Amino acid sequence: LAKVEVELASIPEGRNVVIKWRGKPVFVRHRTPDEIEEARKVDWKSLRDPESDESRVKKPEWLVMLGVCTHLGCVPIGESGDYGGWFCPCHGSHYDISGRARKGPAPLNLEIPQYDFNDAEGKLIV
Ligand code: FES
Repeated sequence: LAKVEVELASIPEGRNVVIKWRGKPVFVRHRTPDEIEEARKVDWKSLRDPESDESRVKKPEWLVMLGVCTHLGCVPIGESGDYGGWFCPCHGSHYDISGRARKGPAPLNLEIPQYDFNDAEGKLIV
């Protein structure tokens, strides 16, 4: 399987990058401490697709997700929407800073792909 390596030092805190993986966009966000706190204080059991932030990340500061809206597959826009995360302009789905569906027609949270960190080299491997 094709792997994509991302140099984590090239992504400053508070920034997103989009990489291509098997023809699909993958979003990588270097979250700030405030964003991590916000993602974790949500009463996640009440969400439409209940997942804790802890269950969605391997390291709190790195959020890695498929950039494919779970409604009908458009690519959501980063740093937008009502929940400080992503907004899908096709039909108005809002995702939070953990990529969880919060408003609009999206039924599920943004999907988490398989990935790993190579800590020695400071890389993310998707
Ligand atoms: Fe994203 Fe419909 S495809 S809201």
